[in-house]
Amino acid sequence: MRSLSFALLGALTALTHAATPAEWRSKSVYQVLTDRFARTDGSTTASCNTEDRKYCGGTYQGIINKLDYIQGMGFTAIWISPVVENIEETTAYGAAYHGYWAKDIYALNSNFGTAADLVALSAAIHARGMYLMVDVAPNHFAWSGTAASVDYSEFVPFNSEDYFHSFCFISDYSNQENVEDCWLGDNSVPLVDVNTGLTTVQTEYHEWIAELVSNYSIDGLRIDTVKHVQKDFWPDFEDASGVYCVGEVYSGDASYTCPYQNYLSGVLNFPVYYPLIRAFTSSSGSISELVSMISTVKSSCADSTLLGTFSENHDLPRFGSITSDTSLAKNVIAFNIMADGIPIIYEGQEHFYTGASDPANREAIWFSGYDTTATLYTHVASLNQIRNRAIEVSGDTYLTYQAWVIYSDTNSLAIRKGDIVTVMTNLGSSGSATLSVTSTGYTAGATVVDVLSCTTLTVGTSGTLSVSITSGLPKVFYPSASLSGSGICSL
Ligand SMILES: *[C@@H]1O[C@H](CO)[C@@H](O)[C@H](O)[C@H]1NC(C)=O
Repeated sequence: MRSLSFALLGALTALTHAATPAEWRSKSVYQVLTDRFARTDGSTTASCNTEDRKYCGGTYQGIINKLDYIQGMGFTAIWISPVVENIEETTAYGAAYHGYWAKDIYALNSNFGTAADLVALSAAIHARGMYLMVDVAPNHFAWSGTAASVDYSEFVPFNSEDYFHSFCFISDYSNQENVEDCWLGDNSVPLVDVNTGLTTVQTEYHEWIAELVSNYSIDGLRIDTVKHVQKDFWPDFEDASGVYCVGEVYSGDASYTCPYQNYLSGVLNFPVYYPLIRAFTSSSGSISELVSMISTVKSSCADSTLLGTFSENHDLPRFGSITSDTSLAKNVIAFNIMADGIPIIYEGQEHFYTGASDPANREAIWFSGYDTTATLYTHVASLNQIRNRAIEVSGDTYLTYQAWVIYSDTNSLAIRKGDIVTVMTNLGSSGSATLSVTSTGYTAGATVVDVLSCTTLTVGTSGTLSVSITSGLPKVFYPSASLSGSGICSL
């Protein structure tokens, strides 16, 4: 009786929350690496040396205690690390603190808390009207030891060799069959490749993901290593989950990555990521390469407004490892949040963390003291706030409007998305320029506000904006008339 009512409650909660791609379009996501975000004891000094690759003590309860900090930046969704039980050994690459080394997908990683804690996190997120996104990695299980020594009986539910592709490490990334059927990892930590072509495996995965989503009232999934599984596995998996899925197709080639959006509702926008970082690394970065990729992605991907747009994550060197120029960082983050797609900001960006490659880019956030006055914290908050305002005012008209470049030169560009015009530059902190931006859609004589500086500008003839850039800072313009009553810039 008890379990029956629990199951019923679970089903009802799932019905309430299961979120569609269209609902996700309006969200803005904060990416949490669960082990590194917040501890139950709230410590801001607990040791966490990224090079050690050990568990540092972050938990679901820790996240619950810091939801004000996340919501204070205007985020409306949180992506957490994979939740399933991982291998417990300390390997040549450290422990499974990141969550991507599954062993039993029906059990939870107890380092992050209990099932009740995860349910509580989900409820606390929903109580704020926010969404929960959970990371999953159906491509593989993990083993500590050589590929030849894998004991398949330890895996749940795929407890026999029959459920896996026979052993070979990926050796040829230009051969898609090799990428899909051979294994990631190496003889220290082989990632044992699930044979997702088998009907029994597919059926099991469909039941599992439906239960996982229902048990924890999950609203969306981030899917790891998508390009290592055959494309036709994904539509039924997403259907079974009943929620929006955004896949990691780790490639900057739009002609490789975009087709996956015909199989999953979203993919992470790796094609724009690389030119975005290159464009803003310094004043010699190529703006035209970014401009060209923006239109390539719009024409190659099924729907640019459902992509996951990001500028850092736990696998890539942080922007702060490339430059210490805060103005350049502000431009990258402005693009991240104001361009097409569902913005994703990786924990630590708001403190301009400087970790380079994995594992250095997985710093503990508690060392920041969760300072909500940090320059990039308030910058992210302002950007999410104006995006949330545009969604409140214009809804789908804003969200489905595909951003386009209305101005570009060697160092600067302006994009228009609905009523928002975002002007960005790679001139850096000492840079200034005056740009004449046309095709804004604004009415001559009307006033618009740069919500990042709270300065007002009158629109010129034919909607032209005369934009003065100083200190290399980005600008985000929005009509004054649509700001009244919003509290933004005291309007
Ligand atoms: C979901 O909850 C039920 C009931 O507690 C449990 O039997 C099942 O294993 C859970 N499934 C997953 C994927 O967590």
